[in-house]
Amino acid sequence: MCGIVGYIGPRDAYAVLINGLKRLEYRGYDSAGIALVNSKTRIYKCRGKVSDLEKYITGNDVSGNIGMGHTRWATHGEPNDINAHPHKSFHGKFVLIHNGIIENYARLKETLSETGIKFQSETDSEVLVNLIEHIYEQGNTSAEIAVRLALSKVIGAYGLVIACIDEPDKLIAARKGSPLVIGVGNNEYFLASDATPIIEYTKSVIYLNDDDVAIISKEGLVLKTLKNDPQTPRIHQLDLGIGEIDKGGYKHFMLKEIFEQPRSILDTFRGRVGADFNELHLGGLYNVIDRLVKARRIIIIGCGTSWHAGLVGEYLFEDLARISVEVEYASEFRYRHPIIEPDDVVIAISQSGETADTLAAVKLAKECGALVLGICNVVGSSIPRETDAGVYTHAGPEIGVASTKAFTAQVTVLAMMAILIGRKNNTLTDVQYRSYIKSLTEVPGKIEQILAQDDKYKNIASLYKLANNFLYLGRGYLFPVALEGALKLKEISYIHAEGYPAAEMKHGPIALIDHKMPVVVLATKDSSYEKIISNIQEVKARNGIVIAVVNEGETTIKNMADHVLEIPVTDNIFSPLLAVIPLQLVSYHIAVMRGCNVDQPRNLAKSVTVE
Ligand code: AGP
Repeated sequence: MCGIVGYIGPRDAYAVLINGLKRLEYRGYDSAGIALVNSKTRIYKCRGKVSDLEKYITGNDVSGNIGMGHTRWATHGEPNDINAHPHKSFHGKFVLIHNGIIENYARLKETLSETGIKFQSETDSEVLVNLIEHIYEQGNTSAEIAVRLALSKVIGAYGLVIACIDEPDKLIAARKGSPLVIGVGNNEYFLASDATPIIEYTKSVIYLNDDDVAIISKEGLVLKTLKNDPQTPRIHQLDLGIGEIDKGGYKHFMLKEIFEQPRSILDTFRGRVGADFNELHLGGLYNVIDRLVKARRIIIIGCGTSWHAGLVGEYLFEDLARISVEVEYASEFRYRHPIIEPDDVVIAISQSGETADTLAAVKLAKECGALVLGICNVVGSSIPRETDAGVYTHAGPEIGVASTKAFTAQVTVLAMMAILIGRKNNTLTDVQYRSYIKSLTEVPGKIEQILAQDDKYKNIASLYKLANNFLYLGRGYLFPVALEGALKLKEISYIHAEGYPAAEMKHGPIALIDHKMPVVVLATKDSSYEKIISNIQEVKARNGIVIAVVNEGETTIKNMADHVLEIPVTDNIFSPLLAVIPLQLVSYHIAVMRGCNVDQPRNLAKSVTVE
């Protein structure tokens, strides 16, 4: 999720662009750049934050009243000066900034390279700007037509601002899957990923829709579709303040990130699932897949929520790929003088890619000769730089300290890895393989259905916001989700909560059950469904309060529990992706009702880079 800005009008473009990028830095901040495209095109870009870019530009020519800017959240290619945007085409005719993922960029790059084009960066965005130039020069056509023809060949998501040096008083914007807003001023236009950089200049905005193309010049704005059908621009009046816009209108980043999960899971499997669900591509594992498939043992390491994702991974790999798995707290693993063999595979899970204990455990595993893989959300962070290979989650920046979309993205990657290895190990048939892939692609839609029930979670929160203790119970794939639900509640609402395997209740926790103890039971239909019903009966027999997460249409538990939260049916292996959503929202609403600082809970940091 990057931040893009553009400007055309009577003002000095540089000031508008730099201020705009500062407003968008929450969207991504590993590198930044601007281009001024009047008469002579000047591009300034570097690794780092917008403030680093400002220092880098000091003393350079920043005159001009047309330009674009970009703050990057890397998905393809390390964060560095070359991979930063804007990108210029090989013959220098076009300059482009891009937010999104071009899924078929590798094939396009191969074709363009055969024409003699030399690429500077590792990005998919540079492929796009060269495709546009190639079509422009081949077809001897206009910039707008070249852009529309190029975009008709692209698979993926984009929010784009493009300039052509042969048509210097014009900007072209296009959108598919990544947001793009146009601010309409007095003889001036502002473009941005959201309204945050625009609102201080104008409240009149046009939200581009998918397949829209806007051609903007000093004469005005023309809106059309990729297919050249004219569109009537619809101008909206903004009624949000800046503070609300960078949260997408949500009260907190955590809530925004919970509601982003259909999109972040889609982005995590986007470009990795074959068109007709017949194959999975995990490019980051190409060079190590044979060692992974033959692994004697998989050791998964992580901390906190990432450790919980690792526990789901244990069920996935053993269930689907029949490979033995151990899941370890990185902080324990690194000090207990573990036995690590060269035919072990160690998978480090970390949203930030900077957690000190996980990084240290990675280094230890490498010293012992194991193959070390990473599942991280921040491209180019320390852990991915240390591992032999890995798979990035494409969840976008996770600002809320409590991890939500990163967890579901991590589980998505683990599921794809287990399905892929299971197929290669023949522990999954081709029918199972395709069926799981298809089910995975249906998960975002099912999460949308769960999110639509937010009022129910808010109601549960209002009933139990004053409880002093919670118990979370789950079995099988949902046991790690019980742990994750307890962590979410305790870290943002400061209510003590514990997660347990449901069968463990009789081995101690049942002594805690009384009429004041809410017990959240994850009870979707699976092989242990009858057993979880017994656990619910044991809680009710002791006057406990049961809040059960069940599949839609379930009736038995509905007649037993105090409250039921229904979620759609899905394959058992994907149940963690659905069951965790109500728990995230109940925790969020309780924390808000208790007046807690949801995005920055007391004593916590987003990334624990110290031991
Ligand atoms: C989760 O909500 C917490 N913020 C915390 O447990 C976090 O998961 C843990 O610190 C690991 O962070 P990482 O994924 O960035 O390594």
